[in-house]
Amino acid sequence: MKTILTGLRVNSELTLGNYLGALLPMVRLANENSEDSNVNIFVPDLHSIISSIDGSLKENIFRSIKYYLAAGLELNKNIHIYRQSYIPAHSELTWILNCTAATMGETSRMIQYKEKSAGEKSVNVGIFDYPVLMAADILLYDANYIPVGEDQFQHLELTRNLALRFNSRFGETFTVPEETKSQVEFMNVEQGIRIRDLMNPEKKMSKSTLAENSKIMLSDSPEKAAKKIMSATTDSFGSIDFDFTTRPGISNLLYIEALINNRPLEEVVNEWKGNEHYGDFKKKVASSVFELLETFQKNLESVDDSKIEELFEAGEKYANEIANKKLFEVQKKVGLR
Ligand code: TRP
Repeated sequence: MKTILTGLRVNSELTLGNYLGALLPMVRLANENSEDSNVNIFVPDLHSIISSIDGSLKENIFRSIKYYLAAGLELNKNIHIYRQSYIPAHSELTWILNCTAATMGETSRMIQYKEKSAGEKSVNVGIFDYPVLMAADILLYDANYIPVGEDQFQHLELTRNLALRFNSRFGETFTVPEETKSQVEFMNVEQGIRIRDLMNPEKKMSKSTLAENSKIMLSDSPEKAAKKIMSATTDSFGSIDFDFTTRPGISNLLYIEALINNRPLEEVVNEWKGNEHYGDFKKKVASSVFELLETFQKNLESVDDSKIEELFEAGEKYANEIANKKLFEVQKKVGLR
């Protein structure tokens, strides 16, 4: 049985872009595969504390799992939901990988580390060691597929290297995750296309953009979100077509329409291509967004903390069993046991 594993970074608020680009594809992937694969969905809470530490972490941990459920994750016996910090083996394997497989040179080349440390007077070691902890998250469970965004591909490559290095030094121990190319095929989402800013579609939609009409937050009322779609920037070509380079505004809306309704982009493009009534198309997208938010928000309200606590407890029992077994094997190999 294959294992699909992903860690959702704890975020206080998500945009429609995060939802369509990350959350929804993951939920669909989980729903499609959990019949015959293990699907591990965990909250990398130890990763969260590398940057800010504040009082909202615990609440955000619960919220991130609520988001999955509200987005339609179907629970079954193969879906395991847990918090990283409740599985001590993650931290311990990180240390062992630090000493046996990870190197300063390779880890220093990580783009995320370079970006986060650039210009900083003082950089905590956690920022540097972040990808080794991520490798431990993956290798403890012999995960094959790790659906993540492009910004994490380099960390996946590092994970593969650590597994190969450890295996060749101590004998077959870890499953080496699939190469990036197969990961992308498995995810079956077009890479490189991100949901864009509604006012300035050359940029990606971001929650830190100040202009309210540029972004749709998952907490926006459906009415407000629909209005934002109606006022989105398009173009003056006179008829609808898809081309992210020359007409990012309308392309963004076509893409949103396809993703929400789980239809191939091509099909949606063919349906609207050549149509001169931009307003009609916007109305259609606005109503898709309206319905999406209405359902999502209703679902979100119906999940309470005790339900999540229950899921965590079951998931953590399972995860500790698997992870401790793998950790023991590693401890034996390096001579600790
Ligand atoms: N680093 C990932 C991110 O920033 C989150 C993460 C941590 C993760 N551990 C992981 C993702 C293991 C997949 C597998 O988005």
